[in-house]
Amino acid sequence: SEISLGNYNHYMQKEIFEQPRAIADTLEGVQGITGAIFGFEAPEMFKRLKRVLIIACGTSYYAGMIGKYWIESIAKVPVDVEIASEYRYRESVPDLDTLVLTISQSGETADTLAALRHAQDLGMDMTMTICNVATSAMVKETKAHYITRAGVEIGVASTKAFTTQLAALYLLALAICKEKGRLTPEREEQAIRELRHLPKSMDVVLKQEPEIKTWAELFADKNNALFLGRGAHYPIALEGALKLKEISYIHAEGYPAGELKHGPLALVDGNMPVVTVAPNDELIEKLKSNMQEVRARKGVLFVFSDADSNIEPSDGIHVIKLPENYGDLSPILHVLPLQLLAYHTALVRGTDVDKPRNLAKSVTVE
Ligand code: G6P
Repeated sequence: SEISLGNYNHYMQKEIFEQPRAIADTLEGVQGITGAIFGFEAPEMFKRLKRVLIIACGTSYYAGMIGKYWIESIAKVPVDVEIASEYRYRESVPDLDTLVLTISQSGETADTLAALRHAQDLGMDMTMTICNVATSAMVKETKAHYITRAGVEIGVASTKAFTTQLAALYLLALAICKEKGRLTPEREEQAIRELRHLPKSMDVVLKQEPEIKTWAELFADKNNALFLGRGAHYPIALEGALKLKEISYIHAEGYPAGELKHGPLALVDGNMPVVTVAPNDELIEKLKSNMQEVRARKGVLFVFSDADSNIEPSDGIHVIKLPENYGDLSPILHVLPLQLLAYHTALVRGTDVDKPRNLAKSVTVE
């Protein structure tokens, strides 16, 4: 490919480390929050919308799930998130006050594009896309858009496209809130400040690579892994599991931690690594009791926490602490070590990281 690897061994590794730059580029030019940053038709739609329907596939779908947490908590607008291949084929109830939002790295994924056209056929005319390719079909066929500036993503397993989608979704939550007249100047300033500081914080988290590498050694001979999270970090657990299965071929499942006792706990024994995404938020105490449930069955915990949490390593509990708790934007930081864990585990297993078997970068046929 014409894009050089520089000092990196794989495109995926390069793209993981490009994320601070990708986020900075994606946010460049955003001075204040307004609907207009999503295009001239956006402010009107944001004022009018009563609901949001997010449609996507794969990693972009998980970004959408996190978008739901943000849009509901910040803009107070109800959000549904659907897998494109499900939405396009089911009999749904169209709602003309719903903003239809597709999320796609490529803007060409067949199911997502077909789902968008399906929504339009049903009469929903408020359409928008968050997309990494400005010239794509999805951008052409929607009224509003936000172009992420991840740059060309070559690794089949999406990394920088995902985190830039999240940055765009956070902006969207704020922009809807603003157009609805509910965003206080204080909140707006604080959000801009936090977004601007994000690349620096991401750099610091990425420096934890050596520690994560030692965990990868422990993972490489496993056949299964569970990933747990709660709230906006539940989709991060799903994404961590997806990354691991895509490139290392270890069977991995992401679960909302509260569902552990409704099934996956039956799988937990001394051979089951359980990755826990555990930022120090209002759900931490709940998560700690889920962790005890795992330990009681001899499951080995790999916990990604952060500085302020009092989770300490002990027998069967490995802990890596991210340097700070980042509040609302924490999912953007917490996905980084999961990407690195999958990457290094795949390296130990010797799989083709950039081109995993059976998978394509962009699925443009059904
Ligand atoms: C493929 C890729 C994934 C991606 C998904 C959706 O499965 O391997 O990395 O998340 O397609 O692609 P999109 O371009 O629509 O985001």
